[in-house]
Amino acid sequence: MKTRIDPWSSTEIKDYEKISKEFGIEKIDSILKSLPKKHHYFTRKLIFGHKSLQTILDARKSKKPFTMLTGLMPSGKFHLGHKMVADEMIYFQQLGAECYVVAADIEAYLTRNIKRDKLKQLATEEYFLNYIALGLKPKKTIFYFQSTGPKEYMNLSKYVAKKTTFNELKSIYGNLTPEKIISALTQVADILYPQLDKPKPVVVPVGIDQLPHINLARDISSRLKSEYNFILPSATFHKLLPGLKQGKMSSSDPTSAIFLSDSEKEVEIKIKKYAFSGGQETIKEHREKGGNPDIDVSYQYLTLFETNDNKLKKIYNDYKSGKLLTSELKQILIDKINSFLKKHQKNKEKAKNQLDKFIQK
Ligand code: TRP
Repeated sequence: MKTRIDPWSSTEIKDYEKISKEFGIEKIDSILKSLPKKHHYFTRKLIFGHKSLQTILDARKSKKPFTMLTGLMPSGKFHLGHKMVADEMIYFQQLGAECYVVAADIEAYLTRNIKRDKLKQLATEEYFLNYIALGLKPKKTIFYFQSTGPKEYMNLSKYVAKKTTFNELKSIYGNLTPEKIISALTQVADILYPQLDKPKPVVVPVGIDQLPHINLARDISSRLKSEYNFILPSATFHKLLPGLKQGKMSSSDPTSAIFLSDSEKEVEIKIKKYAFSGGQETIKEHREKGGNPDIDVSYQYLTLFETNDNKLKKIYNDYKSGKLLTSELKQILIDKINSFLKKHQKNKEKAKNQLDKFIQK
């Protein structure tokens, strides 16, 4: 049976190989060798696949301009899953990309239960400031809101309707509502927006839940070829980080996610209390049989934070053999996250002075 990914609800994906085959996603291995800077998200296959990333690497090699565009719905608190997207923005910026970052306030209003007048503030305080604090630089970067983009972009979000059909949308998204249709078409316009002044390669780093939008944008971009001469947009796909208790990580459920605004104590409590463990019931049993790092949520989170491959490998092996206990593994993660957050939260304070340099006027 064909898999359907619903970008607006929690799709849990078990088999990334299968998804990749089914949706024509190229494996990240196919391009790993040609990547100029190998972020650990790529080498650890957290970013497991891509579509036509070569276009971006070629542009970079021949010193032609290229662009990164991505965005998030300002739907609540900024968590570790959001951090992955931000780290990817920064990665492409460091490769030399010009950056477009969208706050999907129209989509958030249409598909989530959030008041319109809260969205601007939420986008600024929880999203934009975190991007800056994580290291996004103002040079060649713009932040914009879906609700206040320039006229050509606004019009494009409507014109694209002519290049799809109701049946196509139904087969991609399943159950449709007017809200979902507008959100999808707005996202297509986001993805094509950087090319409105002139055609150029654009990469869109996203979680795999956004795949339907990427496919739609690529198809529509081809159908607009004669009118706009768009270059087919590229994309990278990361695996979805599990929630603390497994399942979905949600910005509105504090027991499902570590937020970048959490205090030291909150991080400690959340991990100790909620992080799903791949360990055994008793210490004795754990020492004998060992744990399972592959399903252990603390270990999964460590793959984001422990950048040293050898250290990570040792943790993996020690946990698997039973030498490392669950409480010890959790403590390693708590310390890592808290030392990151301590710096990050200071940086976020400082980021407030910089915000003006990013926002599209
Ligand atoms: N749909 C995305 C989300 O749920 C937000 C988004 C809007 C986006 N436009 C985009 C992501 C363009 C990537 C590219 O968070």
